[in-house]
Amino acid sequence: MRIAFNYNLNFGTTRRTLYKNTETKQEYHKPYYTPYEDYVSFKKGTNPNFAIVKIKNSNATQFFREDMPYSNNADYSGFARFLNKHFSEGKVNIYDFACSDGSEAYSIAISLIEEMGEEEAQRFFPIQAIDKDKYIIKEAANGIIECDTVDMRNIIANTHDKFDKYFEVLEQNGENYLLKVKEPLKNAVNFKIGKIENKLDDVKGSNNVVLCRNMWPYLSKESMFKAVLKLSNLDKNSLVVIGNYDRDHEIPSLLPRAFQLIGLKELDNNMLIKDESFEKRFANRNDYIITLFNSCNYTSD
Ligand SMILES: C[S@@+](CC[C@H](N)C(=O)[O-])C[C@H]1O[C@@H](n2cnc3c(N)ncnc32)[C@H](O)[C@@H]1O
Repeated sequence: MRIAFNYNLNFGTTRRTLYKNTETKQEYHKPYYTPYEDYVSFKKGTNPNFAIVKIKNSNATQFFREDMPYSNNADYSGFARFLNKHFSEGKVNIYDFACSDGSEAYSIAISLIEEMGEEEAQRFFPIQAIDKDKYIIKEAANGIIECDTVDMRNIIANTHDKFDKYFEVLEQNGENYLLKVKEPLKNAVNFKIGKIENKLDDVKGSNNVVLCRNMWPYLSKESMFKAVLKLSNLDKNSLVVIGNYDRDHEIPSLLPRAFQLIGLKELDNNMLIKDESFEKRFANRNDYIITLFNSCNYTSD
């Protein structure tokens, strides 16, 4: 059977290997870790040798992905400065849900270390990096990560030319590199397997940053609903960070509306803050959220 193409995913920013269908010239990404069968659903077309592939889940990620709030393209120093100012003291709990191979969590850890020094940055560590994909988490927990020349360039820029402080190149194959993550960066991130809709129960107390970026379109409506309800319990001043792919969601009215109903207000592109005054006015917000989700016939399959 010929694999056709993915029609539901924006692969604008990813380093994963591109596969091209020679007939349609369309591109798709082969999952690197996840068994292929778990990853796609096939829809048979009229031609029995031809199938349309819809990506159910993608690990596509990169170092210093450009859709981070307060970042200037791939320069994360503004994001680190913002976090340091927003949480001016005390322990800060960063949860990186849907962390994929760890590129995102490492990018944040590097920018915090570079911005405030290793010692001061410790109050943000360890970053709890969580993904439902056990294959990718296993690899990440070993301290091994892939990257390409674009990642390399962004790492060098964000570390102010100190690549060797954070990584060792184990292998190079053309434009692709296999890296070993060095201490102290490795210790700054703690990897765990888990689904956001369940693991949000661990987010308690104050000074929380919840990253849930470029993942919402992979969730079923039920999981999305469960996760949104749990986000509604966040403390005031908690931050929630999403990505561009979440904004391009195929039912754009659902997620922003749900976030609004739980008192999350936008501070910057992709940066939301829990606004307590809003919440007080919406005492029965759960009923509104249930109505919103019930009225929407979105399905991710
Ligand atoms: C496109 S990657 C996003 C990676 C990273 N956050 C970024 O923005 O570059 C999506 C990730 O979401 C994970 N994922 C999908 N559903 C999830 C769920 N319910 N809970 C946790 N992770 C999930 C996938 O395994 C995948 O690694």
